[in-house]
Amino acid sequence: MAKVAFIGLGVMGFPMAGHLKVKGGHDVTVYNRTASKAAAWAEKFGGTAAPTPAEAARDADFVFTCVGNDDDLRSVTSGKGGVLETMKSGAILIDNTTASADVARELYAAAKEKGVGFIDAPVSGGQAGAENGVLTVMCGADQADYDMAKPVIDSFARMVGLMGAPGAGQLTKMINQICIAGLVQGLAEGIHFGKRAGLDIEKVIEVISKGAAGSWQMENRHKTMNEGKYDFGFAIDWMRKDLGIVLDEARSNGAKLPVTALVDQFYGDVQAMGGNRWDTSSLLARLEK
Ligand SMILES: NC(=O)c1ccc[n+]([C@@H]2O[C@H](COP(=O)([O-])OP(=O)(O)OC[C@H]3O[C@@H](n4cnc5c(N)ncnc54)[C@H](OP(=O)(O)O)[C@@H]3O)[C@@H](O)[C@H]2O)c1
Repeated sequence: MAKVAFIGLGVMGFPMAGHLKVKGGHDVTVYNRTASKAAAWAEKFGGTAAPTPAEAARDADFVFTCVGNDDDLRSVTSGKGGVLETMKSGAILIDNTTASADVARELYAAAKEKGVGFIDAPVSGGQAGAENGVLTVMCGADQADYDMAKPVIDSFARMVGLMGAPGAGQLTKMINQICIAGLVQGLAEGIHFGKRAGLDIEKVIEVISKGAAGSWQMENRHKTMNEGKYDFGFAIDWMRKDLGIVLDEARSNGAKLPVTALVDQFYGDVQAMGGNRWDTSSLLARLEK
């Protein structure tokens, strides 16, 4: 049993911190900017809520963060009252936010100055994956830090991998988002075409999902897409944040991502339709407008 702090009890963090307490059996202290959520978490799982990230992290062996973007992450780690003010030497900071590889490297260096380890550990699997404790976790870290943290991360994960040096976890998550963007647009176009052709989409997907066109998105999203329901997962505002990080990184490493850049614009169109909180499969709504 380890002493663990968890900062950021959003859609993802709330259940992840719960698994650390219940499944992992760890002694968990949480912090959330909106204090009522931290109180609700402590009530539900029987842990402790702290008034600042620094207070939550004091004496912890492992500190997890899962907030919105790079700036949010800086404010709860290296900012005033952030966890790096109090983390003890030998402790490990594990960040589950989807953020840039640059901020991961920056925090690795800031942590190292204090004798603290840092792992960028973005996740995939969505709200359901977090609630069921079956997330995929992509890590960038020093091997020794990874080896110490992996059994703790396992509390909310089905697959945990060390992808390389600090930053490599975020780069892997970027590849994940690149693959999803083009794929969902293809699926949206397929369903749109099928409807125009007057085919029974359920029947079509039942057959083609077993062939070379099959995918997780097809299996899990075709039914709700066909019904025009778009509140089943990852919000477009978050996806655009992620694709912005991807396109910035591609500008610096020279990768060509024409389809990803186009789909990012398509998501912009869906936001303009009022779809900021719709899930990523709502690319179909844009075609049917
Ligand atoms: N949702 C998904 O399906 C999913 C899947 C994979 C990865 N992710 C990534 O995981 C991260 C969290 O996603 P989420 O869906 O859990 O988001 P969310 O529900 O919006 O929660 C965000 C959390 O971060 C906190 N926060 C944001 N800015 C902060 C700041 N400046 N200072 C302190 N706390 C701050 C929020 O506190 P308040 O409660 O006070 O607002 C909240 O606890 C994001 O990077 C997202 O891209 C999400």
